[in-house]
Amino acid sequence: MDATKLRRAISRTRLAPVAAFPKRMLRVSKHNAKVLKVSARWLVTSREHHNYTYDLTTLSRSHLAWFVSLICDTPIAQVRTYLDEIESDEHLRRHLEQAIAGADRRGLADRQVRYARRIGWYAIVRARKPQHIVETGVDKGLGSCVLAAALLRNAAEGHPGRVTSLDINPEAGYLAKVAPWSEVIDLVIGDSIASIKALDRPVDLFLHDSDHSRVHEKREFDAVEGKLAPGALLLTDNVTTTNVLANHAERTGRRFLAYRETPVDHWYPGDGIGAAW
Ligand SMILES: C[S@@+](CC[C@H](N)C(=O)[O-])C[C@H]1O[C@@H](n2cnc3c(N)ncnc32)[C@H](O)[C@@H]1O
Repeated sequence: MDATKLRRAISRTRLAPVAAFPKRMLRVSKHNAKVLKVSARWLVTSREHHNYTYDLTTLSRSHLAWFVSLICDTPIAQVRTYLDEIESDEHLRRHLEQAIAGADRRGLADRQVRYARRIGWYAIVRARKPQHIVETGVDKGLGSCVLAAALLRNAAEGHPGRVTSLDINPEAGYLAKVAPWSEVIDLVIGDSIASIKALDRPVDLFLHDSDHSRVHEKREFDAVEGKLAPGALLLTDNVTTTNVLANHAERTGRRFLAYRETPVDHWYPGDGIGAAW
């Protein structure tokens, strides 16, 4: 019997999985050992208990640049300069480090500033120059500051804009209360659905990042639809969990695309950016 026939014969018997077991065991053990090592290191070095921060792998950052380039119809080289811009903004980085170090809740935040997919939010704002952004879900205010940093750069180039940041928690947003970033941020405390319904200016860019239940995410996109400026861009932070924005895009005749981030040295598999335009 030649080798191919022998392999086929083995694959037809119950012996096949047994024969492959040591190799399979080695593969899965190697993978899980790596996850356990990263998890153990994170348990003793990080203070975060939700809304984790991390950097993106080089490959994931590169794919994010192409994602932004496509949804904003902006040359890839231009998008890369925007990503470099936020990552080398030492003024913002120093503010975040100092504000975190001096905060009452510093025991629940890491000192090292890591933006993850928020660098994509920054590049989108730089590329599209929105006059009015709405972000639902603020937490400490890291995303609000990143969006504000992009708006400040846009303003310096003659394209002013503001971000309305909504959160139900009265303690949210301590990072976003310092100038110059606070000068373009309107922090609104209350349930996001009521706050969206009360908006009195057209929205050019909407970002869902609050209660990540499917029902609440859908309620936000339904509520904001009548508030959108022509050609508005809709983003969701929940795209790795639900298909809400994709369904909304289909119902409203928009295009949809999803990006999934890959964190460096973190047990958390990462989130992503969903975009409808
Ligand atoms: C994932 S965090 C936001 C992260 C933030 N965008 C960032 O970039 O770090 C989710 C936030 O949504 C807020 N939230 C939860 N339910 C909400 C609701 N119904 N309305 C407004 N905010 C809500 C929480 O208080 C929390 O601060």
